[in-house]
Amino acid sequence: MTSVAGTHRDVFGSAPEGVWSAPGRVNLIGEHTDYNGGLALPIALPQRTTAACSARTDDLLRLHSVQAGETVEVPLGDVGPGSPEGWTAYVAGVLWALREDGLPVRGLDVTVDSEVPVGAGLSSSAALECAVGAAASDLFGLGLLGDDPARARLAEACVRAENDVAGAATGGMDQSAALLCREGEALLLDCRDGATEHIPFDLSAAGHVLLVTDTRAAHELTDGQYEQRRRACERAASALGVGTLREVDPDGLDAALARLEDDELRRRTRHVVTEIARVEQAVAALRGGELDEVGRLFRASHVSLRDDYEVSCAELDVSVEAAVGAGALGARMTGGGFGGSSIALVPEGSAEAAERAVREAFAERGWSAPSCFAVTAGPPARRDA
Ligand code: GLA
Repeated sequence: MTSVAGTHRDVFGSAPEGVWSAPGRVNLIGEHTDYNGGLALPIALPQRTTAACSARTDDLLRLHSVQAGETVEVPLGDVGPGSPEGWTAYVAGVLWALREDGLPVRGLDVTVDSEVPVGAGLSSSAALECAVGAAASDLFGLGLLGDDPARARLAEACVRAENDVAGAATGGMDQSAALLCREGEALLLDCRDGATEHIPFDLSAAGHVLLVTDTRAAHELTDGQYEQRRRACERAASALGVGTLREVDPDGLDAALARLEDDELRRRTRHVVTEIARVEQAVAALRGGELDEVGRLFRASHVSLRDDYEVSCAELDVSVEAAVGAGALGARMTGGGFGGSSIALVPEGSAEAAERAVREAFAERGWSAPSCFAVTAGPPARRDA
């Protein structure tokens, strides 16, 4: 029995009916593009959130978290926008969203355990939503893990849990990554129409590693900054007379910027339009095995997020500069920003030096030690036992 199943039996008095898990993610490139109908390129992390679950025949959700060390009861009838608060919203919200879809979902007993660091910008919340969503799908016979369209429907329910119940105005890339990514591949996600393509992503075959640095700088998507960026993009799109910034032609970017009076909106727009173009270029470079070019695009993405979109922070900037200074082909913040994690594309022979350089740069500034680890593209949400 897995340890989370053992904990479940200790907490709830009987073994779970099954165990499901879903991964965290890093986005290779295409940041703050999802809610603009743009392109993103995430991989699923090897680190996963695991949920041991049993179906109930009533409408009570009983939840135990190994990390929080607490057991909470939530009657499903009490779930709705803004309720419950805190980590339980991500679980209760998924059941609520599936029921809102008219699906026959009842209560659950759930025990969750996670390897995805919380608050690190690696989508621990989406991993939690998707692990529980996967469990609900199987336990209530919803069939939402079957094929990619079914998985995309489950991802949408998980997004509504996050937007409507947890109150984070996020864009949906994280849930799509957790449900649609494949092992050894990056997911090219077109957020205009939900189209996906799987792009081979095997850095070790090319003698490189993807190094993640969790800066441990606070990262919170419900504090207003993320939503301000999203609303600024909506204002820019409306001033330009388009539905989303995806509709701005990169070749006509200067002309579009000239039509925006507000400097902030100009910079936000420039980031989004150039970032979407960088995703296309990165996919072409990955397909052609041109890792130097991928590295260059990572660096350009970081500068754009730092200067035009203003979602970086000192810890992210320093981790990126230190990694590049120690031989990384490129590095950038990943995820929503304002803290969280960066990624660096590093030749295998320079990986140790890059990690050391990042650690030393943090120590010199008196910052707490970051957590550095190499990742590969892992599998999506699934039933484990
Ligand atoms: C967070 C959100 C995503 C996406 C990224 C930025 O991870 O949850 O929807 O907007 O930030 O790319």
